Amino acid sequence: MNIRQLLSDKFQAAMLAAGIPEDCGPIVAPAKKAGFGDYQANGAMGAAKRMGTNPRELAAKILEQLDGGEMIEKVEVAGPGFMNIHLNGSWLAGQLAAAEKDERLNIAPVEKPQTIVIDYSHPNLAKEMHVGHLRSTIIGDALARLLEFRGHKVIRQNHMGDWGTQFGMLLAHLSDKLENNDAGAASDQKARVALADLEIFYREAKVRFDEEQGFDDRAREYVVKLQGGDPECLKLWQQFIDISISHSEEIYDKLNVTLQRGDVYGESEYNDDLPVLVKELLDRGIAVEDQGAVVVFLEEMADKEGNPSPMIIRKRGGGYLYSTTDLAAIRYRANQLNADRILYVVDARQSLHLQQAFTASRKAGFLSESVSLEHCAFGTMMGDDGKPFKTRSGGTVKLSALLDEAIERAQKLVADKNPELSADECAQIGRAVGIGAVKYADLSKTRTNDYVFNWDAMLSFEGNTAPYLQYAYTRVRSIFRRAGAEPEELTGEIRLDTAEERALAIRLCQFGEILEQVEKDTFPHALCGYLYDLASGYMAFYEACPVLKEGVSEELRSSRLQLCDLVARTIATGLGLLGIEVLEKM
Ligand code: ARG
Repeated sequence: MNIRQLLSDKFQAAMLAAGIPEDCGPIVAPAKKAGFGDYQANGAMGAAKRMGTNPRELAAKILEQLDGGEMIEKVEVAGPGFMNIHLNGSWLAGQLAAAEKDERLNIAPVEKPQTIVIDYSHPNLAKEMHVGHLRSTIIGDALARLLEFRGHKVIRQNHMGDWGTQFGMLLAHLSDKLENNDAGAASDQKARVALADLEIFYREAKVRFDEEQGFDDRAREYVVKLQGGDPECLKLWQQFIDISISHSEEIYDKLNVTLQRGDVYGESEYNDDLPVLVKELLDRGIAVEDQGAVVVFLEEMADKEGNPSPMIIRKRGGGYLYSTTDLAAIRYRANQLNADRILYVVDARQSLHLQQAFTASRKAGFLSESVSLEHCAFGTMMGDDGKPFKTRSGGTVKLSALLDEAIERAQKLVADKNPELSADECAQIGRAVGIGAVKYADLSKTRTNDYVFNWDAMLSFEGNTAPYLQYAYTRVRSIFRRAGAEPEELTGEIRLDTAEERALAIRLCQFGEILEQVEKDTFPHALCGYLYDLASGYMAFYEACPVLKEGVSEELRSSRLQLCDLVARTIATGLGLLGIEVLEKM
């Protein structure tokens, strides 16, 4: 159910009936201030301007045509022509009753499910995953969960960096390590030991590449062998990749992320297609040879002087690039995966690269017009010093260490707050709170902005944080424990007598429209803001409306408990879509 949509439809129909041109929208939005109704329709002003009439009179004409049905109690014209809409209390109560009975909180799946490919996480396997991949993983996974809940077919694509010249150096180094190590151990076991810490392994290989005589040549030979499909070399590469992926999987596990091994579809998958693709673009005249390289010149992205934007798809020496792979990936996703929508949850700094890939693939006709390509860009995670997040010594922060610290800090907080919890309970709660805090801190910020990573802020039990919402959930659950009631047993009507109950009811009813909004614009912070408002509305309700106090009638108690339950379930569902767990106790 989407109140905004329902109202828009009603007002649109009334505007048409009042003789207003169809393209003048009704402009419906939730009211910003108390006392101005629940929603507003602001379309009369723009329409009056277009038609050269008086906006207040036009608003009155619209209202004459309006069929408010059971939904609308009254509409008042205010100011220069605002239409303030008051929803009908019993209609609201009816909506809540339906939500209370329904597992999905009365949020129906979309009528026309799409196939949506989401490209996210995508670490580079030559290195340990670092904080730069954290944002993509967290945001991408939230979008995947949300779009699935909406009823779409979501195909996760973990476009891992598992190919490229740096693997020459790594494989040469790995091969030496396997030779040198204790000959008795199985090769796989040895590889696991050698690759226990990818960062160290990478550094060792790099030092040898820069300093050791002859090593660079061997590294280059490995690149040639790898690209030529040499079986021994491919075996070694596969070993390297498998172990690196399992390192990423440990992080996904800790982070409660839905990505599976089967979602890995790395850069190497497109290898065979690259020469075919380049040849095709050359033959069709979409790409041209330019100083030995192959380039697609994009007039569509020309600079101010009119120079087209050059996208190199084959280097002078014949090597293919990141951009070539992305063209192949778009073609694959559109034609093999049958995507209707392809989302790239990728750092904002790659915006030019992706715009080029999108433009070139359209130019090449790799996908039909109707397929939407979207860069869901995100900013940089900053440290307290306002610079990109680094360790104190200036190195990249390892994700596993960061997540362990989050869990540890949360455990300590929980244990201090609640000394009677057992060590086991503390560990479990600490994990949910710590990981939830890291994820929520990221998701609650407008994703396109940079944001400052701050432990105290994200772990606070006050404000727009995961712990605040998780705590709001446990508080509701504890009311049920105290009441000795189960939500399923509650009967009777939901009553919305006080202003706080009404306000809470409207917020509860807005869950569906927020999900639709995030589905469209892929900005999950709107869902966070909504959940925070809902929890705050709940606190206000709880202050003003006694639930279990003596003297509260059986009917009223049941009605209020139903509201409590709806709040808990909406928070749990909303946090669940963000990949954050709720707890019975904390
Ligand atoms: N592996 C790349 C990196 O770490 C990101 C890949 C993004 N996805 C894509 N299709 N280009 O920078």
